[in-house]
Amino acid sequence: MLDTMSEKPIMLHNDTKLQSLMKHLRITVLALLFLLVLMLLAYLKFYTTKPTSQLPKNNAAAINAPASNRGITYSLTNPSSIWVIVNKQHPLNPLTYTPSQLTVPNVPLRSNITAIEKQVSSVIVPALEDMVASAKQQGVLINLQSGYRSYELQQSLYNYYVQTQGQTQVDMYSAKPGYSEHQTGLAVDLGDINNPSCDLQDCFASTAAGKWLAANAYKFGFILRYPDNKQNITGYGYEPWHFRYVGVMLAEQMKEKNISTLEEYFNVQ
Ligand code: DAL
Ligand code: ZN
Repeated sequence: MLDTMSEKPIMLHNDTKLQSLMKHLRITVLALLFLLVLMLLAYLKFYTTKPTSQLPKNNAAAINAPASNRGITYSLTNPSSIWVIVNKQHPLNPLTYTPSQLTVPNVPLRSNITAIEKQVSSVIVPALEDMVASAKQQGVLINLQSGYRSYELQQSLYNYYVQTQGQTQVDMYSAKPGYSEHQTGLAVDLGDINNPSCDLQDCFASTAAGKWLAANAYKFGFILRYPDNKQNITGYGYEPWHFRYVGVMLAEQMKEKNISTLEEYFNVQ
């Protein structure tokens, strides 16, 4: 009897211990669950953040900041960057920049093209060759009118145009040396082999090549850099022949968002 009675406090003691253990276990499980939910929320936020929210805003520092898109970052100022912005406000730095690797792409070339202009930055060679070959498969024959232009070549072209046409007229379609995308090797002027009379002319837009490029260039990472009615933004008139490589990711996103100029997309002047 005494023995039985003496056992009760011991059992109670064990119960309390068990209850306390269970309580700790519950707290630990709840804490782990809470942590798990927090991690899930952080993961969801990270992977669903819109890329545009990471783009630089329109202020003096914007052009110097790297632009980010789906986690990939390219400089807007480094002349070797596929996103570099070169316009009347933003010359190349250095002004006499030369791309590190220039290559003659395996595409048809205009008959009297200069040795300098038949080259492009090696960075764009696969995309350019692929684009021209794809057009050819669909019966559209494209040639390269002008690729890379050195500082000196741009200088002699610009000076020649100014002498023959006057600066105001020339500044609408030709960049000063150190201010041309052609000097990066990332820009190309393209022509329609069957319509040479429309080479570097507005009527290129209505040739088979002009139409095909306007509809398909973005799939290969090229944008029509000087669209119609955007002179106030780009500084230049309509150039349906001038295509600039920016990579498939950005070209597709500009298409998707219906933003046609780099200045508007990155919100820089
Ligand atoms: N035609 C363009 C603006 C250039 O000269 O680079
Ligand atoms: Zn051009």
